[in-house]
Amino acid sequence: MKIAILAGDGIGPEIIAQAVQVLELLNADGLKLELEDAAYGGAGYDAHGDPLPEATLRLARAADAVLCGAVGGPQYDALPREKRPEQGLLRIRKELGLFANLRPALLFEELASASSLKPELVAGLDILILRELTGDIYFGEPRGRRTNARGERESFDTMLYSESEIRRIAEVAFKAAVKRRKKLCSVDKENVLETSRLWREVVKDVAKNYPQVELSHMYVDNAAMQLVRMPKQFDVIVTGNIFGDILSDEASMLTGSIGMLPSASLDSNNKGLYEPAHGSAPDIAGKDIANPLATILSVAMMLRYTLNLEQAAVRIETAVKKVLAEGYRTADIYQPHMRRVGTREMGAAVLNALKHGL
Ligand code: IPM
Ligand code: MG
Repeated sequence: MKIAILAGDGIGPEIIAQAVQVLELLNADGLKLELEDAAYGGAGYDAHGDPLPEATLRLARAADAVLCGAVGGPQYDALPREKRPEQGLLRIRKELGLFANLRPALLFEELASASSLKPELVAGLDILILRELTGDIYFGEPRGRRTNARGERESFDTMLYSESEIRRIAEVAFKAAVKRRKKLCSVDKENVLETSRLWREVVKDVAKNYPQVELSHMYVDNAAMQLVRMPKQFDVIVTGNIFGDILSDEASMLTGSIGMLPSASLDSNNKGLYEPAHGSAPDIAGKDIANPLATILSVAMMLRYTLNLEQAAVRIETAVKKVLAEGYRTADIYQPHMRRVGTREMGAAVLNALKHGL
């Protein structure tokens, strides 16, 4: 199995280094994963003038799975859109057909009081957000800027979903719900948007094949509110690209820190790109304070979804739980009387837990 490692920008290289140590330990224990690095994001632009250089895309296509850090930084903000680091990420998602983005918001009980909500509202929280990732206003054409009849600049993007795009993400969502608590909430803005009207129709249609799943529909503004009012009402949430982008950041905070949340982006054959749900955090880059756990937990998702190594995935998740139970905390999840550690020390603690088991 070949894993492409795309560290990217900001804190990307630091957190990826910790995840790579975990992969190397699994190799030492008998897995045969070949790891290969490539330039990507701002680093890709710096090295090759392109946030997704040819060679990087080739490697990502050839690999069985891709592990990414994060992309972006203020030094790239003034570049034209197609050269910006974020385009590297959007293009790799599109080129590899990674339409299903799984963003679990799972609360480790050790972190209940690190959440911005009261512990009783989040204790036991386990939500799966399924975000459609290759359509919607992110990719719809036409888009652009023009001068209108009054001589004023105006800009436009196109929110667009085809029936087949909605159907395939809905299928993934129902299948996920069947394996969980069998509740699916589809989030849209059907009271206003044409795309949402089609979305809802198609989701209802797919639902006919899954009578065991309890389906509900919610407007996105209400969903944003319900997530902070009573988050435990949700099991699986399925939604479009832009709504999912926003709601998954919101949901992440319920679990204590966005620094804890992994994600998987899968194609129809479960080939996947795995990355933390957080960004490149340029303000703390290179300071050895970023939380590497979201990236390490992304490795667990890779083992589960692409490599079919459930046991190894659980082993990593258990090791993370153990270091949290032992009180290890990076700055983002720090609480009084806990053991404050940096990126490397947190990574080392996880490795140690993996080596010595429980
Ligand atoms: C995410 C990020 C990306 C997105 C950015 C970096 C393009 O916010 O993965 O959620 O909007 O999809
Ligand atoms: Mg986002």
